[in-house]
Amino acid sequence: MKNHVLRPLWLALAAVALFLAVRYFLVPADFGVHGRNFTYGFHRLGNIQEWRAFPPRYQGNKGCAKCHSENYRHNMASPHAVIQCENCHGAALGHPDLAEGITIDTSRDLCLRCHAALPYPTSERSVLPAVDPENHNAGVECRECHDPHNPDLEGMK
Ligand code: HEC
Ligand code: HEC
Ligand code: HEC
Ligand code: HEC
Repeated sequence: MKNHVLRPLWLALAAVALFLAVRYFLVPADFGVHGRNFTYGFHRLGNIQEWRAFPPRYQGNKGCAKCHSENYRHNMASPHAVIQCENCHGAALGHPDLAEGITIDTSRDLCLRCHAALPYPTSERSVLPAVDPENHNAGVECRECHDPHNPDLEGMK
């Protein structure tokens, strides 16, 4: 065969060889088709174990109930039952054994994150009652008037 035919052929073969060599070193040993848990079944076997060992950052409201039964009872009987304790107190990973994570934030900002009236029309289906931060008792912490664990307007302090 002529040189000008062979040269691109060698080049193509070298490219394939290089691809296979790189692939050999980069693809983890346990990658393959291990049952059809995923589309086409391709996955790394060790990945299943890794996700099982992944510590969840949030405990969920039920996780708080056994130690903070009073807060839990009040909260779950109030309009705030639909939100998580950790929406206000932060991710409870490691709590109470580890000190960090849980916070008590009494700022207006904590509440206004959800309750600030938006300066444009919102969905009519929204159930979130909103206030205008500048006109709704500006400068006074919300908890002075509203119980965060029982914000029901009927039973205000
Ligand atoms: C296994 C029992 C246990 C569970 C479960 C638990 N806590 Fe606690 N929590 C404690 C103890 C004990 C304290 C008091 C120790 C301290 O002051 O740090 C505490 C304190 C707190 C405090 C006050 C912290 C402070 O700085 O005074 C908050 C807020 C709190 N927990 C929220 C939560 C939330 C939210 C959850 C659920 C996501 C939760 N806890 C789950 C035992 C628990
Ligand atoms: C809407 C925000 C919000 C939610 C939701 C919320 N908290 Fe609180 N929590 C607060 C604030 C603010 C304080 C501080 C109250 C104060 O000092 O007047 C507090 C204080 C606490 C305290 C320490 C003082 C006390 O009352 O014993 C604990 C414990 C606590 N919360 C647990 C919980 C648990 C458990 C849940 C879920 C069942 C929960 N909180 C849900 C905002 C919230
Ligand atoms: C993560 C979002 C979120 C945060 C943060 C939050 N709220 Fe709420 N709040 C809600 C939702 C959702 C409702 C109830 C909607 C419904 O009626 O179903 C609600 C309801 C209320 C109501 C109306 C109760 C009624 O009877 O109509 C008040 C008052 C209130 N919250 C005060 C507070 C205060 C004070 C804080 C801060 C300590 C706070 N909220 C933080 C989501 C939030
Ligand atoms: C000085 C007391 C006081 C303070 C401080 C206060 N509120 Fe209120 N809030 C009230 C009263 C009283 C009502 C019921 C009458 C009304 O709608 O004005 C109310 C109503 C609400 C409602 C229900 C509105 C509706 O349309 O149903 C929400 C939500 C609310 N407040 C959130 C907050 C938040 C968030 C803060 C802090 C940023 C806060 N409030 C601070 C006294 C207070």
